[in-house]
Amino acid sequence: MAETLTITSTSRQEKYVDLIPQLKALLENETDLIANLANTAAALRQTFGFFWVGFYWVKGNELVLAPFQGDIACTRIPFHKGVCGACYTQAQTLIVADVEKFEGHIACSSLSKSEIVVPIIQHKKVIGVLDVDSDVLDDFSDIDKKYLEEICNFLANIIQ
Ligand code: SME
Repeated sequence: MAETLTITSTSRQEKYVDLIPQLKALLENETDLIANLANTAAALRQTFGFFWVGFYWVKGNELVLAPFQGDIACTRIPFHKGVCGACYTQAQTLIVADVEKFEGHIACSSLSKSEIVVPIIQHKKVIGVLDVDSDVLDDFSDIDKKYLEEICNFLANIIQ
């Protein structure tokens, strides 16, 4: 397919509905992990203009920075630290409306105000997380949770 996205909707939910089939079409014929994570991060940032979108991948006993879009970020996150570590440990999506109120939040940028982190689960194990940061307080809802989980489940299914 052509490497372009066509997003005509304006609401957050409708943008996900526009994006997801195009993203799936882009990912499903590619087996390379880094290529697929990179395009997913780019597609989400391009569509929504999020402040930071990226992946942390499980390597040994920590999470290591993987493809992302945005400013440079912390490279390694121990499993017991930050929102990403909590997402890994709990194996569930975490929405943080105000990062300053989340004990242990890791501030890669002082401009980040709210955050959603979604686990990528394969064979019942978390293999990585998708982290999306916003420079707006309380920017994420169950709509983001629903569609970002759909994207992460899709990734888990195609990752070999
Ligand atoms: N805020 C995250 C760290 C990653 S950066 O936001 C890119 C956390 O608390 O785990």
